[in-house]
Amino acid sequence: MPFVAVEGIDGSGKSSLARGVAASLESSGHKVLLVREPGSTPLGEGVREILLSPTTGELHVWAEACLFVAARAELVRREIQPALAEGRWVITDRYFYSTLAYQGGGGGADIETLRRLNLEAVGGLVPDRVFLLDLPVEIAKERRQRPADRIEARGADYTSRVRRAFLAEAERDPARFLVLDARSTMEECERLARQDLLNRQG
Ligand code: TMP
Repeated sequence: MPFVAVEGIDGSGKSSLARGVAASLESSGHKVLLVREPGSTPLGEGVREILLSPTTGELHVWAEACLFVAARAELVRREIQPALAEGRWVITDRYFYSTLAYQGGGGGADIETLRRLNLEAVGGLVPDRVFLLDLPVEIAKERRQRPADRIEARGADYTSRVRRAFLAEAERDPARFLVLDARSTMEECERLARQDLLNRQG
């Protein structure tokens, strides 16, 4: 069970959950690589800067999708696959479900085409487990602690479509996804995630 993705809309707490899960695995003696998307490679951090900066302005949805996918292809080959080959756990803060949900659900690009593109780009590497932090859009907006990035600034309708697309992915693949109610405390979400990983190892 070594490859875990944490997904959710902005403000759902997924970065905290990813850090919490990584820390708890480390404290029980596992070697862990924690990465974020886009990012965690020189290309990924560059793409992050372009894609999230409000000064970039609007991009065509396929331009946006291809940049996220390019960063992901690089991250998988450079960091994730080598870590898994060494027997480390990998926790990623977002994976290709984010492209399906944001550029597909939110932006209207065809989700099945995005899925094929992503699977090709990552060499078919699908996470063993996906924790989806689900939260109503209004609450997520209130919780956000920093100014909206270029994508978050698209507003509540866009984010509602993203949320629905994430939930549709969870319904499509219930054996891989665990949907966590992010209205509960982060401690509770972390506890459920830890318990889930323990059950699956056992
Ligand atoms: P973050 O704030 O969770 O680091 O995510 C960065 C932003 O990029 C967030 O608004 C979601 C967006 N995003 C996409 O639109 N598509 C993607 O494939 C990924 C990974 C992120």
